[in-house]
Amino acid sequence: MLNKKIAELINEQINKELYSGYLYLDFANYYADEGLDGFAHWYEIQAQEERDHALMMRRYLINNGVRVTFGEIAKPDKIFKDHSAPLEAGYAHEQFVTSLINNIYAEAAAVHDYKTMQFLDWFIKEQGEEETNAEGLLKKMQLFGHDAKGLYALNQELAARVYAPSATGPAM
Ligand code: FEO
Repeated sequence: MLNKKIAELINEQINKELYSGYLYLDFANYYADEGLDGFAHWYEIQAQEERDHALMMRRYLINNGVRVTFGEIAKPDKIFKDHSAPLEAGYAHEQFVTSLINNIYAEAAAVHDYKTMQFLDWFIKEQGEEETNAEGLLKKMQLFGHDAKGLYALNQELAARVYAPSATGPAM
């Protein structure tokens, strides 16, 4: 049985991961409406990954005898001023998610919950990758996205992203 506070934090994080997916689908809605189907596709896949994260956390709680409870998922409310704005928001959001995961890790360490620390190791690595991806995408956009040809090429590149569920996953 997990420590109560740790279980609550992971349960809350499920909601935040689902919100992340909802947020990224909202980014995809924006890009689809702007005719940038490659950007939309990239964020649709990102939303799938966020759902995967939520399901991994749900599974971890269930495997450890915790009754999972769901709260409301907040409405994405961002207004985008230009094509870079979702990328900026995405990068900032991933940094925020990293801080949430780090906080759960710190709480797990404080109560000597080594099992949860092991479980979270996967997410810490994943957050590092997601921040790198989000920052890289933003940089590319800043470099190439302001000219029609560059934007077209970037859109094509993002259209090629393939959804690949993680082969390993966290320690359960
Ligand atoms: Fe589930 Fe993008 O962090």
